Amino acid sequence: MGKSSKDKRDLYYRRAKEEGWRARSAFKLLQLNDQFQLFNGVKRVVDLCAAPGSWSQVLSRELKAPENPEDVKIVSVDLQPMTPIDGVTTIQADITHPKTLQKILEIFGGEPADFVCSDGAPDVTGLHDLDEYIQAQLILSALQLTTCILKEGGTFVAKIFRGRDIDLLYSQLSYLFEKVICAKPRSSRGTSLEAFVVCLGYKPRPGWNPQLELTKSTEEFFKMPILYLDLPDPEERLIAKFVACGDLNDVDSDATYTLDANFKKMALDPVQMPTAPPYKKALEMKRRGELVRR
Ligand SMILES: C[S@@+](CC[C@H](N)C(=O)[O-])C[C@H]1O[C@@H](n2cnc3c(N)ncnc32)[C@H](O)[C@@H]1O
Repeated sequence: MGKSSKDKRDLYYRRAKEEGWRARSAFKLLQLNDQFQLFNGVKRVVDLCAAPGSWSQVLSRELKAPENPEDVKIVSVDLQPMTPIDGVTTIQADITHPKTLQKILEIFGGEPADFVCSDGAPDVTGLHDLDEYIQAQLILSALQLTTCILKEGGTFVAKIFRGRDIDLLYSQLSYLFEKVICAKPRSSRGTSLEAFVVCLGYKPRPGWNPQLELTKSTEEFFKMPILYLDLPDPEERLIAKFVACGDLNDVDSDATYTLDANFKKMALDPVQMPTAPPYKKALEMKRRGELVRR
C-alpha cells in the first residue's frame, strides 16, 4: 500500500503525521487519558512495548512541564531500538525478562511507579488460537512486572484483544485492582478486537511480596497461596464495565476517506523512519545483489 492511499484510507494515520506523532496509537492514549485522567499527579511512568514511541511522546508532552523537567521520570521499554524522545529514558529489552525490571527500578532510584502502560503486541503468526495465547502471555508478563513496580493505588493500562476468554483476565485483574474497565477509544478500529483494560487503584494482596525470578514461570509467579489467579468457576467471572471513549462524532477509524482540497499535499512523510524494521536485512541483501528469485 502506497503512502498516499494509506493517508487517504485512515484519517488518524494522516492526522498523526500532521501532528508529529510517530504512530496513530498516540490518539488511543490521548483518548483514554481524556476519559480517565490517567496522568493526574503522575511522576514516574513505565511505557512497556513502546516502539516506535508515540505513547512515550504523549507521556513526554503531557507530563513534562518546562519548569520541572527533572521531577518526572518516563521509562520506555521495547525489544526494538527506539529513536530518542525528549525526557524519556529508553531501554531496549524484553519485558518478560526479570533484568528489565531491575533496570527500571534503578532508573527510578528504587521508587515505585505511579502509572504503567503496555501497548504490547507480539508478531502475529496468523494462527488465531496461538496469536491469542501469545498475546495473553504478554499481558500477563506486563502485569507481572507491574505488580513488582507499581505503587499502591497506581494505574495499569494494557492493550487486550476481546477474545473468548477475556472475562477470565478481567476477573484476575479484579483481584489486584479496585476497578477494572474495558475501554475502546474512538481511534481504535471498530472492526478490531482491540481494546484496553484500564485498571485503577492497585491493591497488592496483604503479605504478598511480588518479585521476579529467573527460575519462576508466569504461572508460578501468580500461583501464590493467597493469589491463585486461575478462577475455576466460569460463573464467577467478571464482566468488566465497557466504556467507549474519545469524541464519538470524530472520524470513523475504519472508513476510507477521499482527500479533499483541505489536504494540500497527498502524501506526508513518516514522522520517524523505523529504526530496525523486519525487512531491513532483505533490503541490505537486495542492495548487495544477494536476493535471488528461485
Ligand atoms: C503496537 S507496538 C507499540 C506501539 C507504541 N505504543 C507506540 O505508540 O508507538 C507493539 C510493540 O510491542 C513490542 N513487543 C512485543 N513483545 C515484546 C516484549 N516481549 N518485550 C518488549 N517489547 C515487546 C514490539 O516490539 C512492538 O514495538
